[in-house]
Amino acid sequence: MLIFSGSSNKSLAQKIADHKGYDLGQIEIHTFPDNENRVRVISDVLDQDVVVVQSTGISPNLYYMELFFILDSLKRSGARRVTLVIPYLGYQRQDHVFRSGEGVSLEVIIKILESLGVDRFISFEFHSVKISELFKKEVRELSAIPLFAKKINSLATPHEIINHKSSIINHELVLVSPDMGGIARIKKISEELGGVPYVTVEKDRDLVTGDIKSLKFTGGVKKTAVIVDDVISTGKTLIASADLLTENGAEEVYAMSTHGVFAGDAPQEIQNSNIKKVIVTDTIEIPENRKFGKLEIISVADMIAEELKGATSH
Ligand code: R5P
Repeated sequence: MLIFSGSSNKSLAQKIADHKGYDLGQIEIHTFPDNENRVRVISDVLDQDVVVVQSTGISPNLYYMELFFILDSLKRSGARRVTLVIPYLGYQRQDHVFRSGEGVSLEVIIKILESLGVDRFISFEFHSVKISELFKKEVRELSAIPLFAKKINSLATPHEIINHKSSIINHELVLVSPDMGGIARIKKISEELGGVPYVTVEKDRDLVTGDIKSLKFTGGVKKTAVIVDDVISTGKTLIASADLLTENGAEEVYAMSTHGVFAGDAPQEIQNSNIKKVIVTDTIEIPENRKFGKLEIISVADMIAEELKGATSH
């Protein structure tokens, strides 16, 4: 099996390859002055099973185009079975028609990827439970929830340490879903932690601009609040939720999100907010100049490598 990396998240691809004791497959990605790309596979892939690691994030269009060309080059060079590791599936928040006249961008992306020969998809934390149903090919949605559960355990005071799946609860801690769409996720993490209480924020967005119109929640806030979300883009959901929690008595607010897009001014705005710490995974590579003091990144490379082990033993 050969692992190839696009240019979106080379460090994650390298970690996955290291875990498996492989070198990354050789590929040439050239960008012309007019920003068109040319891709050439150098390693011999004839009749080989290949894995492509490419994420999206702040530049989805750039990375998708590159991915399309990588897949085409691999198939033309004779690759057999293609597994696409796409840790953050860009366009997933456009998974259905919100207003009449709109298309379904995510469906377009999936159709293209499948037509280019992807046999199996591995990704993390989809925005909605329906997304898996848009794929015709095999799809495996992994979750960072167990990693976050471990982190939350470490926030408990020493006499309140929560053991995995035990029923001991830190009575000063509440989990928070920043929107109704995250209920299943917040229930799952609460279960992982033996029943830690949770509250859900009701978020109302303007369907034209995407701006948050209002936020409210029901339920009791505790001293420590941990917001768990699938994706942080502008950071506005997070910051508004943290403000609401603080106004209602939370003394410290943590945030955990599988995908850290951190679009626009999100890094500075989150750094200046009342959030104590933000933990994301490396499904999206964050450039050094966009990292900020309150940010902690945990890796999903081992989970992906384990999943690939399962795939190759079939
Ligand atoms: C929304 O439904 C998602 O779960 C996230 O809460 C949201 O997409 C985050 O976006 P932003 O950071 O731009 O508020």
